[in-house]
Amino acid sequence: MLKTVVLVSGGGTNLQAILDAIAEGKITDTEITAVISNNPNAYALERAKKAGAAAEVVRPADFPDREAFHEALLAKVKEYEPDLIVLAGFMVQVPMCLVKAFPNQIINIHPALIPSFCGKGFYGLRVHEAALKRGVKLTGATVHFVNENLDEGPIIIQKAVRIKEGDTPEILQRRVMEEAEWQIMPEAIQLIAHGKVKVVDGKAVISE
Ligand code: GAR
Repeated sequence: MLKTVVLVSGGGTNLQAILDAIAEGKITDTEITAVISNNPNAYALERAKKAGAAAEVVRPADFPDREAFHEALLAKVKEYEPDLIVLAGFMVQVPMCLVKAFPNQIINIHPALIPSFCGKGFYGLRVHEAALKRGVKLTGATVHFVNENLDEGPIIIQKAVRIKEGDTPEILQRRVMEEAEWQIMPEAIQLIAHGKVKVVDGKAVISE
């Protein structure tokens, strides 16, 4: 059983896609043991409770400084002894202490084809605004391992999504979720649960 902890900040549609994939047998040998949010109002926490997973909050405002928040987050994650940590719309830069404690065990979903529209300042709707502003014809989503540099870890799966005339950031965000994110995140977890992803020379290699 791949013990998995999911970190969230908002609506949690990617979390829901993972929970549904487990319920439907598309992800096997995997258990979501806890969902942890920095935001107590995240709807993702309700989704976790409905699915019977522990729903936890670690809120920056409850700590004297960033370091204390990071340590508390690390301690909370460690309580669940995860094999895998999934960032599913987690809008906090991942603390270095967490990256060091779980090398190649943290994955993130980014709503663009990395290395386009990623790094500092590129999150959520802003990514889609930037893609539309640049006028790219294809965008998409990327699941990657998290390393010490923002959005630079080994890429596991990417899926392209076409941009259409008349797209707004909101319309594009929804299409990228439906056509890419909600598919590739469960796929990546299923591959990891079955030992099919290795990191070799800084790149993720998928075996059949
Ligand atoms: C998703 O589009 C995810 O790719 C993005 O936030 C959204 C969360 O939605 N993540 C980032 O931008 C990370 N840099 P959700 O809460 O409904 O899953």
